[in-house]
Amino acid sequence: MLRTHQGQANSMQGSYPGDPPKIDFTKLFKYNLRMKPYFYQFDSHLLDRHARDSILSVAKKYADNFIDYVGINATVTDNNGILSGKYMPTYKNDISQSAHTLLDSIAIPYYPIIIRHKPNVVVPKHIDDAHNKRFCVISIPLAPINDYPPTLYWNKDDLNTPVAIAEYIDHKPCLLNTEQLHSVENTSNVDRLNFQICFGLQFETVIDLIYNKKLFKI
Ligand SMILES: [Fe+2]
Repeated sequence: MLRTHQGQANSMQGSYPGDPPKIDFTKLFKYNLRMKPYFYQFDSHLLDRHARDSILSVAKKYADNFIDYVGINATVTDNNGILSGKYMPTYKNDISQSAHTLLDSIAIPYYPIIIRHKPNVVVPKHIDDAHNKRFCVISIPLAPINDYPPTLYWNKDDLNTPVAIAEYIDHKPCLLNTEQLHSVENTSNVDRLNFQICFGLQFETVIDLIYNKKLFKI
């Protein structure tokens, strides 16, 4: 199984007297962050705290506007709550200048949404509907700050063990390939909220832009 960091979950839970030294994640990053073809773990934050809080305030302001997503071949919601641009009409005025700076720097077409997973819900294994034209997304965790639940990736030949786990190390964003089978379980007892920058280009194309430092205009 591919994980952003293998076997480190306990070391993230806090330290206790007698614990071994903390793992040096900087040594793990160069081996374990680039999980093609499933996801890419950014090794730095894209939003500062103020920007994150400003987007959280949009999620709160429009809390009643989230739409329970129903897949094109489904009859019930998959537990993804979606807040898209037209349902948060003032978001451009509400987000911080640094959030604008990030969005303005993106070199390819995108659209932003906020996703909400209510406490203790499961988003079943799925591939995103192609008609939504979000073949990959930068998913930026907003809440909860601690123990943000990961995104699990699956191989259809083994639906019992995830093949990769995007863990959002230190609350940092991941580029997610939504054309690969994935699921989420909000194991927390609060809303799991994330800000997504959605791309109509394939994961492989966007990750090449990241590698070549062309996704963000300097
Ligand atoms: Fe999805």
